[in-house]
Amino acid sequence: MGTPDPDFTILAIETSCDETAAAVVRGGRTILANVVASQLDIHQRFGGVVPEVASRQHMLSLVPVVEEALQAVPGGWAGVHAVAATRGPGLSGALLTGLNAAKAIAWQRGLPFVAVNHLEAHIYASWLEQGSAGAPEFPLLALIVSGGHTLLALLRGHGDYTLLGQTRDDAVGEAFDKVARILGLGYPGGPAIQQAALERAARITLPRAWLRESFDFSFSGLKTAVLHRVQEQRDRQATTSSRPQDTAPPLDRLFVAQIAHAFQESVVDVLVSKSVDAAIRYHAAEIVLAGGVAANLRLREELVQRSPVPVRRPALALCTDNAAMVAAAAFYRFAAGLGSDWSSDVSPSLPLGA
Ligand code: KG4
Ligand code: ZN
Repeated sequence: MGTPDPDFTILAIETSCDETAAAVVRGGRTILANVVASQLDIHQRFGGVVPEVASRQHMLSLVPVVEEALQAVPGGWAGVHAVAATRGPGLSGALLTGLNAAKAIAWQRGLPFVAVNHLEAHIYASWLEQGSAGAPEFPLLALIVSGGHTLLALLRGHGDYTLLGQTRDDAVGEAFDKVARILGLGYPGGPAIQQAALERAARITLPRAWLRESFDFSFSGLKTAVLHRVQEQRDRQATTSSRPQDTAPPLDRLFVAQIAHAFQESVVDVLVSKSVDAAIRYHAAEIVLAGGVAANLRLREELVQRSPVPVRRPALALCTDNAAMVAAAAFYRFAAGLGSDWSSDVSPSLPLGA
């Protein structure tokens, strides 16, 4: 890898799911602008992201979001040296809007362009400056937990990934979202479960899928266990309720809090135990927490408490989808001479390391 120029400034665009985001980052670490237009309220009424709606919304939001990000750059466009965008994994139509916009901007302005892996970008959120902390040190263990992915990877250097384990069924964020729906909590499920769990009385314990001898994960059994508990609770409530049989009464609030708490504890216990074991086994210098579920406060707290090595926890706004992390990942791609050409296309199932 060449010596990165600390003034090299990148405009990045992120549109892999339901956030339209643009950011400008200098030297791979200093955020000059970080703008996120969330589509949350639009998808909320459907209980999840509707791909076609997401693409259309990206088209509407992209130009204002990029313009707003540019306003924070000294000298405007003259202060931007390259353009980047996420090419996958994600929703293909959504990815297309951002990737094509970024290519068009780069082409028109005669700037170099690089396409970025969204999973890699989540990891690089830890390179963005936080206080006076230096850049992460290799080898590092990355725990990526998002709506679409759950994986443990070892990074021995920039671009040098070894996948240690991943989910065999649901991604952990997906499990949060599904369990929240079963409990009648809103979308997205992660923050709703975290909130409900605060009111808990810890009387219920839910199972943990350890999958011993492996760094893989499984969350579908846990989700089924929640379903059974909820069914039992509904039967119990039905026999004590005077409501007509055809209207399902809302679940008892204390029960919801207990299940939310037990679910969160089960997920956190497995994620933290496996991360700590992997960090020890592979002599990691640090653990990097990444992805939307990394915003979970119990996970953040428990990992720090049990980890034998320092844990990087990006600020909450840098855990969920944003373009600053895309710019950070792009910086190290450029430094490694990995710019993209105009033929680069979206890749909805792009794996980590590609
Ligand atoms: O990384 P992300 O923003 O989008 C994807 O690339 O998937 O992750 C979104 C996921 C959602 O499933 C959401 O429920 C979850 O992150 N999430 C949380 C929390 N905040 C967001 N899960 C648990 N606790 C949270 N506080
Ligand atoms: Zn993401």
